[in-house]
Amino acid sequence: MLQIKEIKTNDLDPQRFIEEKIKEISSIVGKGLAINALSGGVDSSTVTMLGHRALGNSLKTYFIQNGLMRKSEPENIISAFKSLGVKVELVDAQKKFFKALKGITDPEKKREAITQTFYRDVFAKLVKKSKARYLLQGTILTDVEETVAGIKRQHNVFEQLGIDPNKAFGYKIIEPLVQLRKDGVRKVACALGLPESIYNRIPFPGPALAARVIGEATPQRIEIVRQATAIVEEELKDTGAFQYMAILHQDRMTGILNGKRQFGFQIEIRCWDSTDARTAKPTKLSYPILERLAKKITTEVKGVVSVTYNITSKPPSTIEAV
Ligand code: XMP
Repeated sequence: MLQIKEIKTNDLDPQRFIEEKIKEISSIVGKGLAINALSGGVDSSTVTMLGHRALGNSLKTYFIQNGLMRKSEPENIISAFKSLGVKVELVDAQKKFFKALKGITDPEKKREAITQTFYRDVFAKLVKKSKARYLLQGTILTDVEETVAGIKRQHNVFEQLGIDPNKAFGYKIIEPLVQLRKDGVRKVACALGLPESIYNRIPFPGPALAARVIGEATPQRIEIVRQATAIVEEELKDTGAFQYMAILHQDRMTGILNGKRQFGFQIEIRCWDSTDARTAKPTKLSYPILERLAKKITTEVKGVVSVTYNITSKPPSTIEAV
């Protein structure tokens, strides 16, 4: 494993970090072009602003609509960045991702299918079209550690696994945030002038809602978890929790809908207290909150007859289910 020198959040001077990274990015890219994908998460938003400051128009930013994003996400993110003076181009790649995910149920194979579609197919084409040689991305230290430890193949880790992106995909990857953890990235994001709705946004994984569907990630199953996610995010937004989510299970169960038997879907809710995602504890949500979530999800998301709440810590659980 390449040695990465961690910058502890308490030791981090965000302004100095920003100045250093701007210099570093400019000197690596030189007069060339770089591209990056903005997903709207804290990490990719921070990298977009850093890259924009370092490279201006020599950085092209894309939002890849992979069909696995949260409700109204592309519109909201593209307009938030427009007001920050950053132009983001939308790329519709939904068909490619669902084709790659078809029939796959194994969690690591699902992650791998998303990685390959993203880097080898969608990105390789964008790089060719734009003639960029560099891809800027928001890998953080926790992503690298968990991948190298074999816990979860994070979608954005290559060199630390001995994969040379230049050989594998035809472009180089720059990772300005790789010495930081999530709380450090939030400090940098705030210092970069990103709005609080972004720098304090709960984390969202690269494989997006596919990490929250157990079993095959079909457009229909993703839509169920998308609707449940919107409810969970709305209802839990004032809890101050580190992260919260809905997960669609593969198990079906008998329930009653409109007085009739329904062999329906099951949603699991997870809500985590954590500072850096390395360990986490389930938030002690009040019973009335849990009951309201169950009621809303079973009435508003078609076909769901069961809602559960996770009470297991990480470890042995992980934050995401896939
Ligand atoms: P786990 O599930 O491994 O998650 O306990 C730890 C933190 O990382 C996020 N996560 C990801 N982030 N790419 C990312 O950028 C990924 O592939 C990925 N998988 C998990 C997760 O949401 C949590 O905050």
